[in-house]
Amino acid sequence: MQEIKFYKGENIPLELHKVRVVQKLHLVPIERRLEALQEGGYNTFRLNTKDVFLDMLTDSGTNAMSDNQVAAMMQADDAYAGSQSFYRLLKAVQDVLGKQYYLPVHQGRAAENIISNAYVKNGSIIPMNYHFTTAMAHITQYGGKIAELLYDEAYKVDSSHPFKGNMNLEKLEEIIQIHGAKNIPFIRMEASTNLIGGQPFSVQNLRDVRAIADKYKIRLVLDASLIGENAYLVKEREEEFKDASLGDIMKSMTGLADLVYFSARKLSSSRGGGICTDSDEIYHELEALVPLFEGFLTYGGMSVREMEAMAVGLYETLDETIICQSPNYIKYLVNALDAKGIPVIKPAGVLGVHLDAMQICAHIPQKQYPAGSLAAALFLISGIRGMERGSISNQRDEYGNETYADMELLRLAIPRRVFTLSQIKYVEDRVNWLYDNRELIGGLRFVYEPPVLRFFMGGLEPVNDWPQRLMAKFKEDFGESL
Ligand SMILES: Cc1ncc(COP(=O)(O)O)c(C=O)c1O
Repeated sequence: MQEIKFYKGENIPLELHKVRVVQKLHLVPIERRLEALQEGGYNTFRLNTKDVFLDMLTDSGTNAMSDNQVAAMMQADDAYAGSQSFYRLLKAVQDVLGKQYYLPVHQGRAAENIISNAYVKNGSIIPMNYHFTTAMAHITQYGGKIAELLYDEAYKVDSSHPFKGNMNLEKLEEIIQIHGAKNIPFIRMEASTNLIGGQPFSVQNLRDVRAIADKYKIRLVLDASLIGENAYLVKEREEEFKDASLGDIMKSMTGLADLVYFSARKLSSSRGGGICTDSDEIYHELEALVPLFEGFLTYGGMSVREMEAMAVGLYETLDETIICQSPNYIKYLVNALDAKGIPVIKPAGVLGVHLDAMQICAHIPQKQYPAGSLAAALFLISGIRGMERGSISNQRDEYGNETYADMELLRLAIPRRVFTLSQIKYVEDRVNWLYDNRELIGGLRFVYEPPVLRFFMGGLEPVNDWPQRLMAKFKEDFGESL
């Protein structure tokens, strides 16, 4: 994208949009924030947004919609079957993702359910660059196991590697040799590994994975939920694509996969999802599962209004001025925190800024969930809601044992075109204060642990009175300030 320089050389991510519809926010006093944490089991998923100031939980379904998306929702065609809204969406999927067939689903995990139902059996192994919570839950639900095959660099917090989401090709060959291609129904590549820092893969890596998939006749599945931002970083970091359009880069990626699925909550700033393919065979293998789990084949559990917004949103992912906004804000905040010595995943990726709780809360043992503790502490002292991406987000193994995450991260999501730069500066300020007072943060323990996807609704409590002590220090330093 054309660079816009500031006279004095300052590095400011200039917004290329204006705000025309706004929502009032509330920053409630710290005493109320403590009560909210207690009511919500120290789990940021369980907070009520009336207590949240900056909602950085996720970018899922929270990207700002454009005026054109909202306008499109008004012309939706309400019909159970054969809706014009569906055909407009089908055309957008074909144009943007370059696949002929499209199966609509109500959100990304519904696609994961259908794909796992069709292909995963007891004993199946699914190699992937890295797992996503719901993808793994569906695979294990159908009796399969996952194999995460990243290069060691991906697990380094302080790195300058441009493509930490790349699949480890040697390990992929090895795992196929060990388990046999017949036990591997598909290889899954996630565009920008959500759980370990929003790190992209290169198109070349995907080509190499494709070559291995061809050699062993294994399907290649692409999770394209964050493909727009992955394409943006490919353009910035992969020499071959520096002059390519986002649309061409996206098609270079989708063209390599047999089956592409996505959460429209992320990809197209709407709600919904889909599975697409060029293969008649794959289409027919999955087709019958859509009416069974989702809804008729021309709505798949989505409202027609959302389908219209999704169609427009898909075309908008081709616009660099829209897609660059979140990665550029992320880069700005990562650089600002890094300059203060605060451990944060580098290089800056997509989706959000990821604080390294393993280092920030080095005094909290992993069994007391450092990333969950950091998430609770940051909410307490700022009203900023992030998401734990560490051991709480991991599921127990088949014997019920705790499995500790490779990385303990607090993710502060930066949805597209939602926050202003002064809000980002507030985040920087409060994270800075918390880092200086990090010794006051203590651990958490479960009091209620659901058997599946425990991080969503699980309830925890602090191991001692650290939240009260942290609050007292905040009041000492900030007085009556919120
Ligand atoms: C990479 C990835 N895949 C799949 C999903 C699941 O999508 P959904 O939340 O729409 O079910 C998500 C959601 O955050 C995601 O980030």
